Amino acid sequence: MSSDDTSSFANRLITWQRVHGRNDLPWQNTRDAYRIWLSEIMLQQTQVTTVLPYYARFLERFPDVLSLAQAPDDDVMAYWAGLGYYSRARNLHRAAQQVVGQHGGHFPPSVDLLVALPGVGRSTAAAIAAFAYDVIAPILDGNVKRVLARHAAVEGFPGVSAVEKKLWFEAETRLPTSAKNMVAYTQGLMDLGATICVRSDPRCLLCPIAADCAARISGRVDEIPAARPSKVVPHRAQSYLLLTHADQILLVKRPAPGIWGGLWCLPEIGADEDAEVAAHIRHGASGSNHPVMLPPIAHAFTHFRLTLNIAHLSADCVEPRAMQPGAMWIARSELAKAALPKPISRLLASYPATLSKAAAGS
Ligand code: ADE
Repeated sequence: MSSDDTSSFANRLITWQRVHGRNDLPWQNTRDAYRIWLSEIMLQQTQVTTVLPYYARFLERFPDVLSLAQAPDDDVMAYWAGLGYYSRARNLHRAAQQVVGQHGGHFPPSVDLLVALPGVGRSTAAAIAAFAYDVIAPILDGNVKRVLARHAAVEGFPGVSAVEKKLWFEAETRLPTSAKNMVAYTQGLMDLGATICVRSDPRCLLCPIAADCAARISGRVDEIPAARPSKVVPHRAQSYLLLTHADQILLVKRPAPGIWGGLWCLPEIGADEDAEVAAHIRHGASGSNHPVMLPPIAHAFTHFRLTLNIAHLSADCVEPRAMQPGAMWIARSELAKAALPKPISRLLASYPATLSKAAAGS
């Protein structure tokens, strides 16, 4: 396959992208590496439609790398809360501090230096380098793996490292020869994976690279790429305390690393622990009513499912000096400012409706 004639993989993709691709997303049509980097980190594991409002709010609060580097941890987490995969936010903050401390506030124009930043893998580094600096380097995110696996008929599940290695090779061999086309080429691969070469029922009739797509020619687009070998997702249950006092709620900061690291959450209690005793001894609350169990909440993480069992207690008195370190009482009206895990913010947004429903049913 020659890469400089108009029929090359790269040139067909570039021509298609300019006409049919996405060209007005808020992180496009800029050469600001900070904005590009931020979008690529947010778009790891998260869909465009989910990212859009977070991206806008984040940039309003942190318009450049210096403002992000200098921000308190809690502020960064609050603007990330709800996007999930919170290690991304912690790495983002550290990476901003490295860009300021080690690169004079400028994102370096090389894949090798970008990969050294926390949270930036080889594919993300290549996307940033291509979009911001026209560097000729291959990307290989989940959608691109699917495009290349089909075009080259690569067998096996792409999450397996030997398969991934073959896909990197295929990604290298298809690169354009001219740096001036790297933005359209890189975006074209992403757009093709997101809009045409989708997982089920791909729209091959509209695909610019269908003519030499090995999976299509052999009638195997439904089989390639191979599905993830199935495994049973483990399940965990965890009990929490929803401790309220007047219009205030008790939150504790979760340690990093671990699930929801750095976010503010309801305090955990043991499955067999007495909620009233825990509220009194660990959080200085007394004079509570009997605990009311809320309807269990199911939450899916990538590697396990979690059921949250929440006991509500409303305390008459609290003794702030008897509280655990890392705990705080927060007024309901202030909750929007705290970085909360999704299931907890959803629960508290419906509070106290949830509580009266649970009380009525108990
Ligand atoms: N996913 C990852 N990077 C993206 C981008 N630049 N545009 C759209 N979707 C993406």
